[in-house]
Amino acid sequence: MSMNDHLAMAAATGGFTLDANPAYAPGPFPDAPGSLDRQVMQDAADEIGSWAGYAPTPLHDLPEVAAHLGVARVVFKDESPRFGLGSFKALGGAYAVARLARAAEESGGSITDVTVTTATDGNHGRSVAWGAARAGCTAKIYIHAHVSKAREEAMTAYGADVIRVNGNYEASLAACREDAAAHGWQIVSDTSWPGYADVPLMIMAGYTLMGREVVDQLGGTVPSHAMLPVGVGGLASGVIAPLWQAAGAGLGRMISVESHMSACMRDSLVAGTPTLVDITEETLMAGLSCGEVSTLAWHIMKPTVSHCITIGDEAVAPLMRWFHRRTPSIEAGECSTSGLAACLAAHADPAARQQLGFSPDSVVLLLGTEGATDPDFYQSIIEAA
Ligand SMILES: Cc1ncc(COP(=O)(O)O)c(C=O)c1O
Repeated sequence: MSMNDHLAMAAATGGFTLDANPAYAPGPFPDAPGSLDRQVMQDAADEIGSWAGYAPTPLHDLPEVAAHLGVARVVFKDESPRFGLGSFKALGGAYAVARLARAAEESGGSITDVTVTTATDGNHGRSVAWGAARAGCTAKIYIHAHVSKAREEAMTAYGADVIRVNGNYEASLAACREDAAAHGWQIVSDTSWPGYADVPLMIMAGYTLMGREVVDQLGGTVPSHAMLPVGVGGLASGVIAPLWQAAGAGLGRMISVESHMSACMRDSLVAGTPTLVDITEETLMAGLSCGEVSTLAWHIMKPTVSHCITIGDEAVAPLMRWFHRRTPSIEAGECSTSGLAACLAAHADPAARQQLGFSPDSVVLLLGTEGATDPDFYQSIIEAA
């Protein structure tokens, strides 16, 4: 099958939904304390930029996709090499752990007494485990029934204790919260809820480095469209904030992309209030399988997301192969196909294409949020015909 056949197949098989956000009104960058303000973003950039092995991840041009969509540029931010962890998550959890360890030390405690804990689908837990190993504290990581053995092993490799819980992500989060309260552990969750915001804010601040790098790599400009994969919304907010800081009310169209099976941001934006989704089936895009938006992310995304797209799993495997087989080859894991799948599906539908406003001047940002974070699965997909 040729490259274009893979693209066409992904577009043809991937059913999608498109909704406009009724609250869309970006306005000037708020620079609000308690959210992703300039200082919080600068602190994260200064700290993470000083870590051994830090380097901006590549921003690849995909000229064949730009030609297919009829736009000026399609750029793909490739997080697969981030700190050797395989995903953007390396920026968030590890940064929060570093800050918590430093706070313990500054208040006269010992870092070795600090235990950090989280629930995870895999990538966030890997970052927390790596961060704990870097800082010298203990990590207890809760995973749910569907997290693969390979993802589990990637966390134990950093010395974390991994606890598998029956049920879905929400069940693993409940177990983590209960045990943390019983033992005095510090929760390093990538989602916030009322009364729990400081740590998720640090995690999102870590993610903002991705958006800052993109603005630099685009020569100080911002994309006209960004396709943002959403689980709880932390990643999307972390990318939106620096683009918003750079562009103000001229922020382009920020488009959330979710699985049909876990569209909590779409349901929340359409309803105008955070809305729970009961996940009854797991998407292959494991990182997007979340049923509840992060409160912090919600406040950033409500005014800035112009449209919400949901997609199925049909395009995941063909697009992983397409990324792998193009020249130069790109290692794109399951979640990394979501933005391209959404673009292709919307482009194939004239009404959707018009609503999204793709034009010959458009610059479209796609986020390759993970590489082969589950190497066996990745190999099995790219080796298939
Ligand atoms: C690879 C990948 N992409 C995207 C996401 C979505 O990020 P968030 O939950 O912050 O919206 C995740 C979350 O786990 C992920 O692991």
